[in-house]
Amino acid sequence: MADPLILAVDQGTSSTKALLVDARGRVVSRAVAPLSESQPRPGWVEQDPAELWQSVRRAVAECVTPAGAGRVAGIGISNQRESLVLWERRTGEPVGPLLSWQDQRTAGRCHELAGAAELVRSVSGLPLDPMFSALKARWLLDTYDPDRRRAGELCLGTVDSWLLSRFGGEHLIEAGNASRTQLLDVATGDWDDRLLELFGVPREVLPRVVPSCAAFPAARGLAPLPDGVPVLAVMGDSHAAMFAHAGWRPGVVKATYGTGSSVMAISRSGRTGQTGRTGRTGEVGEVGEVRGLCRSIAWDLGDGPALCVEGNIRATGRMVSWLADLFGVPVPELLKEAESADGVHFVPAFGGLGAPWWDPGATPVITGFSLGTRRPQLAAAALEAVAFQIEDVLAAIEQAVGQVRVLMTDGGLTHSDRLMRLQADLSGRVVARSGEHDLSALGAADAAGLTAGLWTLGELERRPRPADTYEPELGEAERRARKRAWHKAVRRALPAQE
Ligand code: G3P
Repeated sequence: MADPLILAVDQGTSSTKALLVDARGRVVSRAVAPLSESQPRPGWVEQDPAELWQSVRRAVAECVTPAGAGRVAGIGISNQRESLVLWERRTGEPVGPLLSWQDQRTAGRCHELAGAAELVRSVSGLPLDPMFSALKARWLLDTYDPDRRRAGELCLGTVDSWLLSRFGGEHLIEAGNASRTQLLDVATGDWDDRLLELFGVPREVLPRVVPSCAAFPAARGLAPLPDGVPVLAVMGDSHAAMFAHAGWRPGVVKATYGTGSSVMAISRSGRTGQTGRTGRTGEVGEVGEVRGLCRSIAWDLGDGPALCVEGNIRATGRMVSWLADLFGVPVPELLKEAESADGVHFVPAFGGLGAPWWDPGATPVITGFSLGTRRPQLAAAALEAVAFQIEDVLAAIEQAVGQVRVLMTDGGLTHSDRLMRLQADLSGRVVARSGEHDLSALGAADAAGLTAGLWTLGELERRPRPADTYEPELGEAERRARKRAWHKAVRRALPAQE
């Protein structure tokens, strides 16, 4: 095909993005279609699976011109992870809503299953938490098939699985997405019978796990693309962003600053060792056994799963937007009036704390304020909390995989130079902010182009992707003192300290 293009679709929580990338990796077209969510009760977060599919169709229709459609050699998909859909196998009709990764309705179940937390963590690599799909699967099945009589007639799947089902063919899930369900044995890459029994999920209702670059069903119903354009790669959004950073290189960690944040490092390569590295010991299983970090499958390029360690922080962008709503002023405006937080600390434990603490009982606290504290200091404390939380996860990742050389950053909040400087200072590490938008979509395009033979892994490593670099300037003693003060505030947020 002359001048082939790759279409990347990034199906995220608040929108679906579509990008067209040419054979040199340059973005030639982009489009966004928004997606709504609803909160029918406190802690419940749902989306409409049909609206989600329509948002994909809209984004593609706007991104691809009829003239460009014939040049699309293949599609890469990245997607929001952990969110779960149930649908009828025969008709493809959704049964009930999509339960979002943000949904907390199963928090009570976590307490009931606390005795199994160690089994869950050691097998799935994930802490027992309502964010992951397993308890959502149980809730959907308990609600719509309480006696599990319809297991053979129903399909459960994450967003990748749901989108692939729109194209027809077999019920499939990509390996990295499967590893975020909490039903997979992360060591074997297969569903684990003990976890299936614990969460009451029959095997028949689950998809077949396939590599990230596999024989997926070809796309259908994505006008103006002709039916039959091959899907060449699928990855969870965080994993795809890691791929776009060529995050398999030694010493590289990436942080995506979104609603929440994901900090990730590759801990073990696929069998050929192309993308990844071994941890300090080189032993599989030992890397990433650091408490507070998730062990997941990053991707499988067909040479076996590459593993990653990841810390998920619940509230970073969310905290900043909450503060802006509360004050009715954008946070960057407030920040102009405060050089620092003046000793105020804001621990945004909305719905508990994620990595590296993983305590659903933690509550938000603001410490160190006085009668002189004003809105700008609170805004500065919120910004510092983003950087401190990321640093706490970075420190845990360093224990798991060895020295962190550079932190590659992407996502909405990274537009703030002040945050990037703070991050470098409070971490004592070099921060490289990606100059590209939509890293997840780019990663999906990178992986799809790799499958299509448009480029190699080496070429991806050498591809010039613009980045601004921030060097740490704060002295070590001051950095330590500021981290101690932050941790004192975190201890107050944790229930054991109440
Ligand atoms: O783990 C949840 C994450 O995949 C959601 O990403 O970009 O849709 O907020 P995003």
